Amino acid sequence: MLTTYTLEHQPYQVYRAGMEGPVLLFVHGFPLNHAQWENQFLHFAASHRVIAPDLRGLGGSRISDNDMVVTMEQHADDLDALLSELQINEPVVFIGLSMGGYVAWQMAKKYPQRLRSLVLCHTRVVADTAEQAAGRHQLAAETLRIQTSLKIEEVMLPRLLPASTDQSHVEAVRQMARSSSISGLAATLRGMAARPDMTNLLPSITVPTLAICGEYDAISPPAEMSAWSSKIPGARFVSLPGVGHLSPIEGPHAFNQLLTESLPWLTGTMSR
Ligand code: MLT
Repeated sequence: MLTTYTLEHQPYQVYRAGMEGPVLLFVHGFPLNHAQWENQFLHFAASHRVIAPDLRGLGGSRISDNDMVVTMEQHADDLDALLSELQINEPVVFIGLSMGGYVAWQMAKKYPQRLRSLVLCHTRVVADTAEQAAGRHQLAAETLRIQTSLKIEEVMLPRLLPASTDQSHVEAVRQMARSSSISGLAATLRGMAARPDMTNLLPSITVPTLAICGEYDAISPPAEMSAWSSKIPGARFVSLPGVGHLSPIEGPHAFNQLLTESLPWLTGTMSR
């Protein structure tokens, strides 16, 4: 079920399914929205409460201010407010992909009591280089100029999905990019450009953590993900074969199987 809440006078759209069991909070990447997790919803809602927001500025959580910067900390503040609104006081399994992982670091820093465990998919811990940040600002400006997501699709699609991917995945990503407000896409690009290096946080993470990457991931490659995940005490690292940056879309069966097998450990109902 899709519901639009109001957080700080801001529309905030959230998908929810499942009536009982531990809470799984699915946090999408860029330029995506809650629908990125469509292949997970039915699978996990049978025995979990599934919550998948559209982060501020993306999907149905539209903004209209062309000059905004939506930081990763702001997203964490929104998620904390959302959980309060939904009267969820128990800690959640936070499943973040790419930008969703950037938000996870802010959640672990500012709201550690909200986290039962972390699933960090296809994500990075370092900040953008000056060149990468400048590229994002340029892309934001160009997107506002042309008033469509086309330039973002052109730049991002070859990085998100391997050339061999099914055309239906390309179309799904395009649809999600097109569902967002133009101001929101620009604000999100600026927010990612402003994100801090979170490497120093890693040794202080104490919740069970699963890092999932893809063999062909061009944005967060296996060697990089393996290196940062080894700095989180007890973290488990898995590289899924044959997929790029979006395993929940590209390889849902393997992704769901891995998450299903890991959930007893992630929810504290079984040791690792
Ligand atoms: C994402 O998937 O969220 C983005 O690729 C992250 C990024 O561009 O750094």
